[in-house]
Amino acid sequence: MHVGIIMDGNGRWAAAKGLPRLEGHRRGVEALRKAVRSAIELNVDYLTVYSFSTENWSRPVQEVMDLIGLLKRFIRIDLADLHKQNVRVRIIGERASLAADLKKLLDDAEDLTRSNDGLCLVVAFNYGGRQELARAMQKIAAEVRAGDLQIGDITPDLVSSRLNTADIPDPDLIIRTSGEQRLSNFLLWQAAYAELVFLPINWPDFDRAAFDTAMNEFRSRDRRFGKLNTVKANAS
Ligand code: FPP
Repeated sequence: MHVGIIMDGNGRWAAAKGLPRLEGHRRGVEALRKAVRSAIELNVDYLTVYSFSTENWSRPVQEVMDLIGLLKRFIRIDLADLHKQNVRVRIIGERASLAADLKKLLDDAEDLTRSNDGLCLVVAFNYGGRQELARAMQKIAAEVRAGDLQIGDITPDLVSSRLNTADIPDPDLIIRTSGEQRLSNFLLWQAAYAELVFLPINWPDFDRAAFDTAMNEFRSRDRRFGKLNTVKANAS
């Protein structure tokens, strides 16, 4: 099973407590650690978390630096532990334009954990669904121009295979915290048949009980994938 999470509401959590936004993001990292533990306990195969969107670059420079700093620290501090827990780390998003040290950190995290076969933690960083699709279209167009691909070969499966998530199954469940009810450019193509669960809590308050609530809601849904016959969500 693949669960995606839009970790929203760090700023609102901090504001409600009269704390700086950075404190909200710090507590967000704590919540992420808990979510990884819960995902392992719940036998989730893939957990994809939206850590920084393409659009987040337009936040104030200090906040952008804080968010990048938290990701770096998360990888530096938590990677050994994740590796010990047999977690495979994958990063999706645009990497070519990132600073060399950050790129290396992300590459190294993937390399170290490549052969782990426990939970796959997919971190969406500098990620935007439309941007990912545009990059896939550029690749496909180049292949057509080179004569390696015919226009008629462009099927949904072919498009999937040119995305960053090429070998990752589509998400079954997408959870968004903070009460907002939208995808915000997260896994647009891949979310075609995902069940969406919106929780009225801010991300720093996300714990095992909240994960259970989302999973129970998911299990209660009838997944039909456009057909008439019913596929119970808990069968996937
Ligand atoms: C949304 O809260 C959250 C983010 C933009 C970033 C999520 C980042 C983390 C949980 C920490 C860093 C990530 C990793 C992988 C270490 P918001 O700031 O949009 O909250 P608001 O809508 O209440 O202002």
